[in-house]
Amino acid sequence: PALDNAPAIVVGSGYGGAVAALRLGQAGIRTIVLEMGRLWNSAGPDGKVFCSTTAPDHRSTWFRTRTEAPLATFLWLDLVNKDISPYPGVLDRVRFAHMSVYCGRGVGGGSLVNGGMAVTPLKSYFAEQFPTVDADEMYSTYYPRARSQLGVNPIDPAWFEATDWYRFSRVSRKHAERTGLRTTFVPNVYDFGHMQREEAGTAPKSALAAELLYGNNHGKRSLDKTYLAAAVGTGNVTIHTLERVSAIRLGEGGTYVVQTQRIDNAGNVVETKEYGCGYLFLGGGSVGTTELLLRARETGALPDLDASVGTGWGTNGNVMLGRANHLWDTVGAHQSTVPVMGIDDWANTANPVFAEIAPLPMGLEHWVSLYLAITKNQERATFSYSGGSLALSWTAAQSAVSSAMAKKLFDRINRANATIYRYDLFGGNRAFADDFTYHPLGGCVLGRATDDYGRVKGYSKLYVTDGSLVPGSLGVNPFVTITALAERTMARVLVEDTAP
Ligand code: FDA
Repeated sequence: PALDNAPAIVVGSGYGGAVAALRLGQAGIRTIVLEMGRLWNSAGPDGKVFCSTTAPDHRSTWFRTRTEAPLATFLWLDLVNKDISPYPGVLDRVRFAHMSVYCGRGVGGGSLVNGGMAVTPLKSYFAEQFPTVDADEMYSTYYPRARSQLGVNPIDPAWFEATDWYRFSRVSRKHAERTGLRTTFVPNVYDFGHMQREEAGTAPKSALAAELLYGNNHGKRSLDKTYLAAAVGTGNVTIHTLERVSAIRLGEGGTYVVQTQRIDNAGNVVETKEYGCGYLFLGGGSVGTTELLLRARETGALPDLDASVGTGWGTNGNVMLGRANHLWDTVGAHQSTVPVMGIDDWANTANPVFAEIAPLPMGLEHWVSLYLAITKNQERATFSYSGGSLALSWTAAQSAVSSAMAKKLFDRINRANATIYRYDLFGGNRAFADDFTYHPLGGCVLGRATDDYGRVKGYSKLYVTDGSLVPGSLGVNPFVTITALAERTMARVLVEDTAP
């Protein structure tokens, strides 16, 4: 195959990839971004780019014949998932033996499908997780830079108190307060001004029309609207879509060769390509980047990669659960898809949990309070690569650690409010869904598999900028931290590594 050369290549267009692309482009370095998913900018026959969570179609899911939503049933009925035709849809569920990892596919990666919650962790916990990173500099320079470029904004508290669309959050807050627990507002990248106009009927509805998990047609500042738009605007960055990086190896004179497979909408490989580059940035996310590096190490393409590549992986302690409210505690048929509040019990050293109050927009009253809990689960797992496939050592017992912590907190809430769990939502009569994560973290941990700036050990001009740098736990939703760490890496690398 023909070798297409660029000074820099970025693998993946999620947070880590988008930051790298923008800062390379601004530095005048011609850069190609290789993304396995689609560019989501053209409308289907229904006039919409994305489908909603309540009427999922082929656009929802990455090459499946049926959708695989986290919340699979309602009243034990298989009402949620739908048969679909295979397509490069926007949400993927990567299944390992005892853990599924949800991730976004497309230009913008996870930003296309996530809840947009833009949370900065406690400085003390950040410092604990990243002992070699200057926390003062992160909190004075890189977190503010990330938040401003991502377009983070707060909800207007007065509107929050008044609107029907956040009744579900207010009910959960009341139940938390009754338990003596603290709640906190969580900022978001969804434009709350737009959301208020949706309610007023002066803007097209998206958050108020059950759109989120499979993309938002309006209102959300996903990366394609922020970092990536700015990157392409520099004139130096080109994004190639539906191109999956299958292998990386060393080229001549310290360069890298990146092999890709271009696919069509049916998933057929229509072209195999090779690119040469001087600088290679990996932003394929925790699973994507770790897989590429492990494959390179195990096949002998990059044999000097550190032994710690593949280790230090965790779920950020994710657990989902639902509570059944009393008949008088209605959560409302109207629910915004954008979460704006969390129950913050992280300071409880005996059982640290940060639980987001999650919406469940079904267009009818269902009396369910839903939560995504982030627990301080210290369990970690290791990826391995053999026979062409990636495996993850995470066990059900390791997940049980997360649900036990969530149970401790929510047992208190149930006791204080005389309520019970819902067992009908996740299949198998379970109250706790601990077999999937939205927050895959680690696999190529900062300061272990890389130096303190994401430079991959054993090689030069090879970098990791994504969630695989985070050692398994953050205590809050991760994308602001991933973005801020990538900003820190780029600031350093562009000064130190690219001097002529
Ligand atoms: P990310 O996964 O964003 O991007 C990786 C990109 O690389 C993808 O586009 C992928 O297709 C591409 N790629 C991978 N391998 C490739 C290869 N070999 N070749 C080419 N391309 C490749 N976080 C948060 O802070 N607040 C929130 O509210 C939420 N909510 C949430 C909900 C849901 C449903 C999910 C799935 C996730 C969240 N998250 C979240 C998590 C957040 O989205 C996640 O932490 C980040 O997207 C991770 O950013 P990365 O840059 O690591 O990778």
